[in-house]
Amino acid sequence: MTGDLSLVTRYRSVAQGGNGPARPIAGFLSPKWYPAARRVDLPWPGRAGGDELGHLGAVFLGYALVRLSLYTQAGLAFAAGRWPATGEPGRSRLIPTPVRPVPSGGASYPAELYLATAGSPVLDAGLYHYNPVRHALEAVAAGDVRGRIATASGDLIVIACRPWKNVQKYGDFYYRLSSVDIGALLSRFIVDGTATRVHLLHDDAEVAAALGTDPRLETAYAVLELAGSERAPGSTVPGSTAPGSTALVGAGLEIDRAGADLVHPDAMALHRASGTVAARPTPPEPADAVTGAATGQGDVVAGLRLSRTAALDLRPHLLTRQSVDGFQRGGVRVEQLAAVLASAAGGEPGGTGGAGLRVPNDLPAALAEPLTLYCVVPEAPGVPPGAYRYRPADRMLVRCGWPDAASAVVDAHPHARPALTNAVSVFVVGSFQSGVETLGPRWYRVLNMLAGVAVQRLYLAAAAVGLSARALLGYDIAAVDTLLDLPPGHTALVEVLIGAAAPSPTNLSLMLL
Ligand SMILES: Cc1cc2nc3c(=O)[nH]c(=O)nc-3n(C[C@H](O)[C@H](O)[C@H](O)COP(=O)(O)O)c2cc1C
Repeated sequence: MTGDLSLVTRYRSVAQGGNGPARPIAGFLSPKWYPAARRVDLPWPGRAGGDELGHLGAVFLGYALVRLSLYTQAGLAFAAGRWPATGEPGRSRLIPTPVRPVPSGGASYPAELYLATAGSPVLDAGLYHYNPVRHALEAVAAGDVRGRIATASGDLIVIACRPWKNVQKYGDFYYRLSSVDIGALLSRFIVDGTATRVHLLHDDAEVAAALGTDPRLETAYAVLELAGSERAPGSTVPGSTAPGSTALVGAGLEIDRAGADLVHPDAMALHRASGTVAARPTPPEPADAVTGAATGQGDVVAGLRLSRTAALDLRPHLLTRQSVDGFQRGGVRVEQLAAVLASAAGGEPGGTGGAGLRVPNDLPAALAEPLTLYCVVPEAPGVPPGAYRYRPADRMLVRCGWPDAASAVVDAHPHARPALTNAVSVFVVGSFQSGVETLGPRWYRVLNMLAGVAVQRLYLAAAAVGLSARALLGYDIAAVDTLLDLPPGHTALVEVLIGAAAPSPTNLSLMLL
């Protein structure tokens, strides 16, 4: 056995659903940047399939500041569930927040992106950091460092996580939130075809050494091999030099440093223990979830077979999807729900149904698709209210959980505003157990990332059928696990509300593209 669950269990008990106790930290949630670096400006907005820089411009646009979200004070109060009880809806000050194409808990964006390239006619070989404020690559180190990060024939994008970036707001819970966030970002690079292969099981310290980063504050969570950048071994390109000949220091991590000092020791212990993956034993038999056979009492009760739907094209929505503040009651049609669940859970050609990465990767096969989607339907024409487990193999919504789950789920959201509870709740469910036995504590972050991958697909699929979405982590986990009657060891990792958007005159959006 590679690992026992104790580190994961201890951390989970200090970081239950919702915000942990906030920490008194002064400072801003700043993107990282390299003040002394040579900058390579990327074309705005870039062009997929264009020349090398144009193509990179389009790729990194996936994490650029593409939208201004303009909230009135009244809008913020409403979003926090306090309006109109505060009695101050008339205040008109606008609070602009720059937001990115991917959803992120509290719009905190814990990821930093790095490009390791063998070089091209327009970009020297080297290690680059993406600066989202300038939409530019900052040259961190010269030379081809790819071999220190992964064995791959193409260029690499590293997605690093800053697991303590918003401890000031979310406390110990941010470690969990940030891992789901990284999955949502990773997912968009899979959907748009940027990543041809994903590595999740690298050694954190080795990659941090190649990036020149402090692994306590910033840790590589995923390494992506870039489509179209493969080069024959030994081929040279202009600008290739010896690796690591300059190394610069990044700025902007002050708030993370303070967060790392104040976070609960169990959160830091889990993070440290996740740095390596022990030699992999033979993985256990495929998890029940892969075949959709995860059982709950619901299996003996009736269900609903959804109709077959055409595969959705998610790509047109990658830059424009956004979270909405409220939903109309009864706004989801059964065929829309069928298409969204099929798209998110792997019901497309080639999918096996356990919601995974959908791109070659280094996970043991038995752990590659470990998730099951559950949903709670308050009101949707053609679907009786209640809780269901989605079985993609035969497109069944299998009745499960408490008979009054549709109303009980509202009580499991102590902070949710009423307009959110009109939506269909989709819960992404998984188990930490078998993965920890195989990979050790690293499985904690990997499973949360895979849940994040599903989150992004749910957002995009909702947009593709004309619906809207909002991810939520602010629910009572134990209450949800109970009302869904999940199999032993399984838990609701994250929730995505799906529905028809209600008008939200208090939140305006301005696209910068
Ligand atoms: C992992 C994750 C957790 C989230 N949790 C919540 C939540 O508990 N409550 C909420 O209102 N929004 C939540 N959100 C939505 C974010 O607040 C939203 O994505 C962010 O404000 C950026 O806005 P956008 O999605 O419109 O780009 C979450 C998003 C993610 C990815």
